[in-house]
Amino acid sequence: MIRLIFLSSIWMISLKAGLFVQKNDYRSYEDLSGLWTFVREESNGGDAGIRKRYYEQDLSKHQNASVMPVPCAFNDMSTEAALRDHVGWVWYQKKEFISMRDKGQLLFLRFESAQYYAIVYFNAKEIGQHIGGHLPFSFDVTQHVRFGAENVITVAVNNTLSWSTIPQADFVYKASKKKPITYIEDITIVANHIGSLFWKIKLNEESDANEVDVEIRVLDGNEEIYFAKGVTGSGNVMDVKPWWPRGMGDPNLYTMRVILRSSTDQILDSYDEQFGFRSITFDKDKIYINKKPFYCLGFGMHEDFDVHGRGYNQAVMTKDLNLFEWMGANCYRTSHYPYAQERIRESDRRGIAVILETPAVGLKVFTNFNLKLHQQIVTEMIERDKNHPSVIMWSISNEPHTEKDEAREYFRSLIDLAHKIDATRPVTVVYGPSWWSNDKTADLLDIVCVNRYYGWYDDMGYLDTINQSVIWDYTNWREKFGKPILVTEYGADSIVGLNQFPSVDFSEQYQNDLVKETHKAFDYLRANNVITGEMIWNFADFMTSMTALRAVGNHKGVFTRNRQAKMAAYTLRDRYLKLLKQN
Ligand SMILES: *[C@@H]1O[C@H](CO)[C@@H](O)[C@H](O)[C@H]1NC(C)=O
Ligand SMILES: *[C@@H]1O[C@H](CO)[C@@H](O)[C@H](O)[C@H]1NC(C)=O
Ligand SMILES: *[C@@H]1O[C@H](CO)[C@@H](O)[C@H](O)[C@H]1NC(C)=O
Repeated sequence: MIRLIFLSSIWMISLKAGLFVQKNDYRSYEDLSGLWTFVREESNGGDAGIRKRYYEQDLSKHQNASVMPVPCAFNDMSTEAALRDHVGWVWYQKKEFISMRDKGQLLFLRFESAQYYAIVYFNAKEIGQHIGGHLPFSFDVTQHVRFGAENVITVAVNNTLSWSTIPQADFVYKASKKKPITYIEDITIVANHIGSLFWKIKLNEESDANEVDVEIRVLDGNEEIYFAKGVTGSGNVMDVKPWWPRGMGDPNLYTMRVILRSSTDQILDSYDEQFGFRSITFDKDKIYINKKPFYCLGFGMHEDFDVHGRGYNQAVMTKDLNLFEWMGANCYRTSHYPYAQERIRESDRRGIAVILETPAVGLKVFTNFNLKLHQQIVTEMIERDKNHPSVIMWSISNEPHTEKDEAREYFRSLIDLAHKIDATRPVTVVYGPSWWSNDKTADLLDIVCVNRYYGWYDDMGYLDTINQSVIWDYTNWREKFGKPILVTEYGADSIVGLNQFPSVDFSEQYQNDLVKETHKAFDYLRANNVITGEMIWNFADFMTSMTALRAVGNHKGVFTRNRQAKMAAYTLRDRYLKLLKQN
């Protein structure tokens, strides 16, 4: 076989990522992050690595072998422009000793994310493929493992659709020692602020649900406050403390402990899932959390940092969320792709609301191929993050060309799908190139998000007209569709330390002036119930590809790429701290 790749059939393979890794008496994992052997193919090599069967080779002996940290973006590691700009295949390989002690266990290889198209080989055999970056996938490798020996994991990644690449081969996961066949594959929890609880437990396909008992225990810290049985069910939990976003209350969290018992009363599997009691609702004006109006004060962002490039980094995440709190922010959008689940979990803990977004930026063509892939991504995104109380909304796409007629049925199908999988959260699309006057989709949505750049891409230098333009634009969206509106992007580039007074574009002063002028419009729009939140573009400067619009990346951050505050950060902080108190 020469080509193992059947692009058109990939989404037909069931790639259940299942639950995040966890350690207890029935589950364990090993983190495979670290230095992997790395080989880059020629950019237009015609899939040479697959033809030459790299997966059967010891790649550390390859003439172009190097190492690459996982997780990180390989683009940012090298001294060569060719690697920075590489489009095509790269190969990752790692040797992993798997002990005799692990025999009899189920072993999975789980990837938190691989950008964009990945083929995974275990001991030289292909065990699966995944398309679409940023979301987890896993494969059962039990039958391929050599116990008491080294095993070779090889991952071929093609970043065809994206500039930056994030292969994050992460974990080996092992389950159930005694009866490896039955385990918890997924947990769905819906819990609202007055204590109503619904759950659904999915067991793996090979299991026999009649052979096992499913126990549900809700824990408040160590104290059990609710007990029930059944793979699915509902009930009421008394005296719950709801989960609140920052500024509105405490982000109270609970644990649902799910236990599987065999007919002979042996525990087969157990999993602790964190959740919160809270509800998201909306009317034509506003978003409500636990029936109280929620005004979003936040940021569009990137999961990006110097040296490390795109992808999850725990130090950067901690710094970012600390800065969030310092700023008085309560919300962010995972522009323009789902961020690491670790970040969503930390947002649960800190009470920061999250709008989860798919990696679908600037869609122009609405083919059936794109739709199938987009449906898969929406499904995987919601499945991964459905139990996180911090997630308040699903964003289907950023800046699609919804002025096209074909966009309507395309988006209708995705919006329906998102509602079908999760009936508890609103669905949105973030508009950019289209207008209220020519858009074909916004009436299908629950909430409408709009990006606008008055004083920057539109009317550069005219700070005086920002107030009226912003009011005119958002009021039109509001009047046409009668839905809550969120400002999801506005802003200006500034090069840190570049000072000009009176202000000139790219100076810190200009960014600051533009932000202040735009806030005048927001004050008016907020007072008149036109908008239900505001997010600046961007939290921090980030790297982009080269264009005449960019000077070493995008400088619309109110923080530098190294997370140092610019002038506009202080303006925004004053506003957010003041408004957060009014939420
Ligand atoms: C190794 O890299 C060099 C320089 O980029 C390239 O010319 C050569 O084709 C590469 N070798 C293989 C086997 O990919
Ligand atoms: C891998 O990426 C290259 C470069 O974009 C592309 O030409 C090639 O078709 C891709 N291969 C597959 C199988 O997607
Ligand atoms: C902004 O425009 C609105 C609507 O025209 C107006 O009421 C308001 O006074 C303006 N704000 C400022 C600060 O000029």
